[in-house]
Amino acid sequence: MIKALRGMKDLSFEDSSRFTYIIDIATDIAKKYGYSYIETPILEETKLFKRSVGESSDIVGKEMYQFIDKGGNDVCMRPEGTAGVVRAFIQDKLDRRQNEKFKFYYYGAMFRYERPQKGRLREFHQFGCESFGEDLVYEDFTIIQMVGDIFKSLGIDYRLEINSLGCSRCMPPYRENLINFLNGCRDELCQDCNRRIETNPIRVLDCKNEKCKSLLRESPKLIDNLCSSCSSDFNRLKELLDIANIEYSVNSNLVRGLDYYNKTAFEFVSSSIGSQSAIAGGGRYDKLVEFVSGKSTPAVGFALGVERIMELVKMPNRERDGYYMGVMNSSDIDKLFPLAHRKRKSSSVTIEYRAKKLKAHLKGADRINARYCVVIGEDEAKNGTVWVKDLEKSEESILKIDEF
Ligand code: HAM
Repeated sequence: MIKALRGMKDLSFEDSSRFTYIIDIATDIAKKYGYSYIETPILEETKLFKRSVGESSDIVGKEMYQFIDKGGNDVCMRPEGTAGVVRAFIQDKLDRRQNEKFKFYYYGAMFRYERPQKGRLREFHQFGCESFGEDLVYEDFTIIQMVGDIFKSLGIDYRLEINSLGCSRCMPPYRENLINFLNGCRDELCQDCNRRIETNPIRVLDCKNEKCKSLLRESPKLIDNLCSSCSSDFNRLKELLDIANIEYSVNSNLVRGLDYYNKTAFEFVSSSIGSQSAIAGGGRYDKLVEFVSGKSTPAVGFALGVERIMELVKMPNRERDGYYMGVMNSSDIDKLFPLAHRKRKSSSVTIEYRAKKLKAHLKGADRINARYCVVIGEDEAKNGTVWVKDLEKSEESILKIDEF
C-alpha cells in the first residue's frame, strides 16, 4: 500500500471541518484588522530562505526540503510564510511606496524536515499575517491583540510570552557580552550550544537542555541592556497590553528560531498539547525587506500552527443543514433534478439516485445531518407533490412541487 510520507497527514471529515473552521475564524478576524489575502508559491529559490530565515538557523541548516529542479535551479519548499510574502512585496515594488501601509494574510502548507512527533509534522499548515510600513509599537500591540482575538473566538486558552530582541544599536554590544559569558562556561554547555557560540550565540538562550537552561539563568539579559528607543517601545507595549487586559509574561530567553527578528518577539503557548506547545509566534522584522534586496521597510507579523490548534479547538455542535432528496420509484428521479437545482441557489442538497423505501431515505438524511428529508413516493408522483420531513422539529408535511 502506498502511504503518505512520514510526518505528513491527510485532512478529511472531522479533521477537515476543524481545519476550515480555524481558517474561517482567523480569516474573518484578520479582515476586520484590515488584512487582505496573499497567495505565494510553495517553491522559492533556496537563497531566499538562506537570506531571510538565516544560514545559522536550524530550519535552514537541517530542515529544508531543498533540491535542484529540472532546469538546474536550487529551490526549496517553503519552511515558513514570511520570506515569500516579503519577496512578493519587493517584486511588486510595494517597498517603493514608502508612505503607504500594506497588510497581508495567508494560509497554507509549510515544510520542515524535522523529527516527527506529536504536534510536530514535516508538512504542516500556518495561518499568518504580515504588516508592512508601520514602525510604531502600536502595530506590534495590535497584532498581538488580533492573535488573542483569534484564540478567544476559537475558545482556546493560551499563555503569551513577550521579549525584545533589541536593534542594530543595542544587539551587537549585548552579543559580545553574551559571548564572553558563554565562553566562560563552554565546558558545561551542550555540544549544540558550543556550536552556536560560533554561529549564532543568541540562539543559545533558547536551548532546551536542562543543564544549559540552569547555567543561562545567570547570563546577561538583553532586556536589561536595551537602547532607549527599544526600551521605551517595550515598555509601551507592556502598558498597552495591560490596558487591554491581555495577560503576558516577559521571557528574556525568548529568541525565536528564525534570524530576522528585532525588537518585539512573542509566542503564544498552550499548556494542553504536550512538548510542542507553541501555537503561534511572531514579532517585528524591520531589516528583512532591505536584507532581501528591497527598500528599508518596517514590518511585523505572526503565524499560527493550524494542526496544533486543531488539537485544542472545541467545535460548536454542527446543526442540521440542507436537504436530502430521494425517490421510492426510479422512474420519478427526473422530478428531483429541477427541484434540487432550485434549492441549491441557497442551500446544500444531496440527491440519492437509487430508489429506496422511506425508512432507508430517512436514515440517509440523518447520516449526512440534513435538516430536511424530501421524498417522492407513489402518491406524491401522482399528485405532483413532495413529502418533506423537518428532521430538527420532527414535523412532516406534503407540499405541491411548484410551491416547494
Ligand atoms: P514559527 O514560530 O517558526 O514562526 O512558526 C509558527 C507556528 O507554526 C509555531 O508556533 C507552530 O505552532 C507552528 N509550527 C512550526 N513548526 C511546526 C511543525 N513542524 N509542525 C507543526 N506546527 C509547526 C514562523 O514561521 C514565522 N514565519 C512567523 C512570523 C510571521 N513572524 C513574523 N511573521
